[in-house]
Amino acid sequence: MPTILAIESSCDDTSAAVCKDGKILANIISSQQVHEAWGGVVPELASRAHMKNIIVTVDTAMKKASISNQDLDAIAFTRGPGLIGSLLVGVSFAKGLGMALDLPLIEVNHMQAHVMANFIDETPSFPHICLTVSGGHTQLLLVRGPLDMTLIGESLDDAAGEAFDKSAKILGLPYPGGPLVDKLAQLGNPEKFKFAKPQIEGFDFSFSGLKTSILYFIQKQVKENPNFIAENLNDLCASIQKTIVDILLKKLEAAAIANEVREIALAGGVSANSELRRKFSELGIKNGWKTHIPKFEYCTDNAAMIAIVGHYKYEIKEFCSYEIEAIPRYPI
Ligand code: KG4
Ligand code: ZN
Repeated sequence: MPTILAIESSCDDTSAAVCKDGKILANIISSQQVHEAWGGVVPELASRAHMKNIIVTVDTAMKKASISNQDLDAIAFTRGPGLIGSLLVGVSFAKGLGMALDLPLIEVNHMQAHVMANFIDETPSFPHICLTVSGGHTQLLLVRGPLDMTLIGESLDDAAGEAFDKSAKILGLPYPGGPLVDKLAQLGNPEKFKFAKPQIEGFDFSFSGLKTSILYFIQKQVKENPNFIAENLNDLCASIQKTIVDILLKKLEAAAIANEVREIALAGGVSANSELRRKFSELGIKNGWKTHIPKFEYCTDNAAMIAIVGHYKYEIKEFCSYEIEAIPRYPI
């Protein structure tokens, strides 16, 4: 019954979780508000905020789980991918605490952890296809087992979360725009505006063309009517959201059919999107596939997903050296 402390610091959320025998006892997330004013994550500010938050975040998680240092069997941490300065804080903290308590370390790939967020409250069967959609990545994976997955498609440019955030920025909405687009879209007509969808072969995605076509469309309309955005904001959000969701689910469906799976899963921060969740469930019903979506707090960046990978790696004694370094690019 291993008890694992997990640390996540790859981007702008400092998170710590405690997992005992595969059950999450605590998952504390300190989000950084400092980036809002800059319209995106500022790496240097993120590292500094991680330094300020990490001790209190770990301490809160340990207290919530009623776990003392002596109860721990291993420390899991995000090694990459992510912002190097942010990763360094978590990796160094894990090494320091691990050395002080004489514990084994478990390194975790952040993208593998997003997929495995689906293993926290239930265990999907294999093989299945997982669509991971976050602010930095859009990936389709064939998942054959808990630690056994192959990338079969990904975005060639912007990630799905970026498509939401950059479209929101064009509409004058604050960062991060994704949740706001979702909220406003609920009052809008998704059929009002049509945007061209990219024609990309296979299971890869592209979102930069969509962003450009939205930008040119808005610039043209605003020239004719300066109030165009304000008068059509809800319909614009609904139409943009529908376009992004349609692009994502069309590829997911094709990948699931091509690989003859019976189950599909969603992961990553964008899986909080209400339209994506709704249409994903409908897709499952239409094809007779079982669907999996993690609980909301396990969709966005969190340490519980790092802890669950830690749990599976502990079972096979997959520990890493204390010489290990953070890596900003870490293929799955
Ligand atoms: O996985 P995540 O928390 O962080 C990364 O690893 O990137 O994902 C953050 C992304 C942001 O782009 C944010 O706008 C988007 O997820 N997001 C949403 C929603 N909630 C978060 N996008 C659309 N609709 C939402 N409800
Ligand atoms: Zn993430």
